[in-house]
Amino acid sequence: MFITFEGGEGTGKSTQALILAEWLKKQSINAVLTREPGGSPGAEIIRNLLVTGSVDRWSVMSEVLLMYAARADHWENTIKFALQQGSWVLCDRFADSTVAYQGYGRGVNKEFLELLYQNIVGTTKPDLTFVFDLDVKEGLKRANARMEGETIVEGRFEAMDIDFHQRIRDGFLEIAKEDSSRCVVIDANSHPEEIHQRIVKILYERGVLS
Ligand code: TMP
Repeated sequence: MFITFEGGEGTGKSTQALILAEWLKKQSINAVLTREPGGSPGAEIIRNLLVTGSVDRWSVMSEVLLMYAARADHWENTIKFALQQGSWVLCDRFADSTVAYQGYGRGVNKEFLELLYQNIVGTTKPDLTFVFDLDVKEGLKRANARMEGETIVEGRFEAMDIDFHQRIRDGFLEIAKEDSSRCVVIDANSHPEEIHQRIVKILYERGVLS
């Protein structure tokens, strides 16, 4: 079972991925909790290049290729292996983030992104994707509050302008609409425990758990 958690900044998806991983463990289900960019030693090095520094550090194409360089390493060394072992994989961001951020956000051609996906990941798609949706200003407020006091600030994307973040929110909703059998939109404006209960309910409703 391959489940991805997607959404804009400060939507609480990382928290929910963690809560679900702990809940699954209590049900004796082995789940690998991982993230993108990152999730393998090589990809974590690339993550650092992508999420720190100035907004204009990378051209959009460099950014796409770095995201996919990280994804290739993560896919080969973490996700593919875990799925082959029969483990569940909970991934905090995956390829929908590239379509939302670099595609809808920065204007990269969607067919080109699809081609990268096919050549690097192949035909495997997540079985289920939770798309966390939240007002952009509220999300950025939460994300910026979280970064306060951090020594290494992973704030490169958070520092991009509000219109960029609005395009990302709209992009994620569009992705969810186009692939409604895979994606479920989660209203992120609720208490974390309430959202967790919704997620568990969806897993039962979809027959992922019985
Ligand atoms: P995080 O803050 O959720 O850990 O993600 C790091 C940043 O990377 C986040 O601002 C979104 C961005 N990102 C992309 O722009 N494209 C991608 O493909 C991925 C996976 C993340």
